[in-house]
Amino acid sequence: MIEHFHSGTIDYDIVIRRGALGCIGNRLNVDRNIMVVTDDGIPADYIRRLIAQCPHSRLFTFPQGEKNKNIDNFKAILEKLLEYGFTRKDAVIALGGGVTGDMAGFAASCYMRGIDFFNIPTTLLAQVDSSVGGKTGIDFGGIKNSVGTFHHPKAVIIDPDTLETLDRRLLHEGLAEAIKMASTSDSGLFELIESTDDLRGNIDTIIARAVNIKKKVVEEDPDEKGIRKLLNFGHTIGHAIESLSGGELLHGECVAIGMIYMSDGEARERIRRVLKKYGLPTTCNMDTDALLSLIRHDKKREESTVTTVHVEKIGSYSFRKMTLHELGNCLKNKEL
Ligand SMILES: NC(=O)c1ccc[n+]([C@@H]2O[C@H](COP(=O)([O-])OP(=O)(O)OC[C@H]3O[C@@H](n4cnc5c(N)ncnc54)[C@H](O)[C@@H]3O)[C@@H](O)[C@H]2O)c1
Repeated sequence: MIEHFHSGTIDYDIVIRRGALGCIGNRLNVDRNIMVVTDDGIPADYIRRLIAQCPHSRLFTFPQGEKNKNIDNFKAILEKLLEYGFTRKDAVIALGGGVTGDMAGFAASCYMRGIDFFNIPTTLLAQVDSSVGGKTGIDFGGIKNSVGTFHHPKAVIIDPDTLETLDRRLLHEGLAEAIKMASTSDSGLFELIESTDDLRGNIDTIIARAVNIKKKVVEEDPDEKGIRKLLNFGHTIGHAIESLSGGELLHGECVAIGMIYMSDGEARERIRRVLKKYGLPTTCNMDTDALLSLIRHDKKREESTVTTVHVEKIGSYSFRKMTLHELGNCLKNKEL
């Protein structure tokens, strides 16, 4: 299936199709210089299949992992683009997870004031979330995503078959983001994830529906001035947990715990059950003051309050401005 992203002057297709990695020529002009950016955890077969379709390709591979989404690798991509004589007519393709997509997109957005960028996301997190929306960037000065741009891809090509090689823990981590979107915006998708005994068999539908939510939200609010904040459900506390966990917990796992704090009643019980079903954590025994201090420094803080997203009924949400005191009470009082 194909989703079409349209917001102002930004227009591109999001293709979701098994086998799409093998026929990218349908989606982009490969008769030009193409820099394929990938990390060393991406199966060699995917890289081979992609390169085979691009007669003028160059490959940039960096070591896998969040710590490599940094200024050194960003600089190295730009140096290679210059060295190989890339012009404004040429393009960058990201093949990998969110780390690859964010950094390759950032390099494409800066090189010669912006060249074409195509994203082929290969983790579930990147397929349902990070590949759509145009946010690019790197971690800098010890802060995640502190430097970056908005630079939308010319196309996103999602091949669910690439998930076959993805580690189960990473698959479920990405599913946490789909559960996040379903909880606020699509009760039918939530029911599907809740009831299925065949996650992989239903993954195309899950990706398509989650992408549809993300796409609509970003179309409405491309610069994150309003409704796009709903994508932060579970993230205010989740980010703080992620920082404190020191890499022990994955991003989606921290968001999973964060969603429990920001939901109530029956919705909270359903979210808890579905997270447990996929082995995602629902509790945390971290120090409340340490978490609060991290939230205080969160870049999304507006003066003395934080805008949080709450779910009381699956498929709907509300925004609440919470003071740090209220967040502290929430952390202390919610029996997880
Ligand atoms: N731009 C956005 O809007 C946005 C949104 C959410 C998250 N992000 C960013 O996304 C990043 C996290 O992305 P991620 O979870 O995809 O992590 P990741 O890119 O580090 O990928 C995780 C691991 O999976 C491996 N991998 C990827 N695809 C594979 C496959 N098909 N088979 C086998 N192994 C594979 C990679 O080598 C890597 O080791 C973070 O940096 C986060 O800030 C960005």
